[in-house]
Amino acid sequence: MRATDEVAAAPGIHVQGIKKSFGTQVVLDGVDLEVPRGHITVVIGRSGTGKSVLLKHVMGLLRPDAGTIRVGDDDLATLGPRALRQVRFRFGMVFQHAALFDSMDVYENVAFPLREHGFKTAAGQRKMREPEIKARVEEMLGAVGLTGVGAKGVSELSGGMRKRVGLARALVRDPEFLLYDEPTTGLDPIMTAQIDNLIRGTQDRNPGITSLVISHDMAATFRIADHVAMLYEGRVRLYGTPEEFRHTDDPVVRQFVEGRLDGPITV
Ligand SMILES: Nc1ncnc2c1ncn2[C@@H]1O[C@H](COP(=O)(O)OP(=O)(O)O)[C@@H](O)[C@H]1O
Ligand SMILES: [Mg+2]
Repeated sequence: MRATDEVAAAPGIHVQGIKKSFGTQVVLDGVDLEVPRGHITVVIGRSGTGKSVLLKHVMGLLRPDAGTIRVGDDDLATLGPRALRQVRFRFGMVFQHAALFDSMDVYENVAFPLREHGFKTAAGQRKMREPEIKARVEEMLGAVGLTGVGAKGVSELSGGMRKRVGLARALVRDPEFLLYDEPTTGLDPIMTAQIDNLIRGTQDRNPGITSLVISHDMAATFRIADHVAMLYEGRVRLYGTPEEFRHTDDPVVRQFVEGRLDGPITV
């Protein structure tokens, strides 16, 4: 594990001025976002405001019409497909619907990235042998509170267990960057709180990680965020600490903070 000052000095994710339209629909209209290393940054916004589109730019799955995205020391625009794939290896991704393979048991789901891509080392990727894979998968299942469920089928799991398996799979290759796209959507409040604790706990146990969480749940955001950015009409309306969000005078942001997310924003 790195020393804390070294973590703070290393670059996280830096988004500057990105614009993206699909046809005539402008989705991102000059988004600036700082995602500092060693912290959790939560991007909030109503459904359809471009949160997932933003995340896809960070992963290099979409190219912006304008602007720059830096991941660590890499400017994504300058990278070819091969280098971009290397950057993507540094990410762990937790999807909204967990996206597990139904045909595999829990163990194989978590082992999948190791079998597919090997384990990263300072020298690059390397293949892992079966006993090493087993030890790593068991360690990850333990970390998400699922010791002993490796042999279960995906269909036997509750929604919350699926999310935890998804998190174990995202963590298994020891990523530098963790991206979560609405990790608790569709879960009950107790499960939501457990997943939030897991996200926060994962960050706190791995201070070198940089976490970017997409959410439209303000209560969850307050539980886990170090920094918050609210996406609104194609731009970041407010970036700040949870405290700053609690105390803002901005009426658009206030509606979010007060939990009136689904009606029209009226100002
Ligand atoms: N590949 C695409 N092609 C065309 N339109 C897209 C594409 N991806 C997203 N959009 C549109 O961009 C807008 C923002 O989508 P999204 O980022 O998924 O919103 P959310 O904030 O809910 O994650 C939506 O209107 C969506 O229909
Ligand atoms: Mg989305």
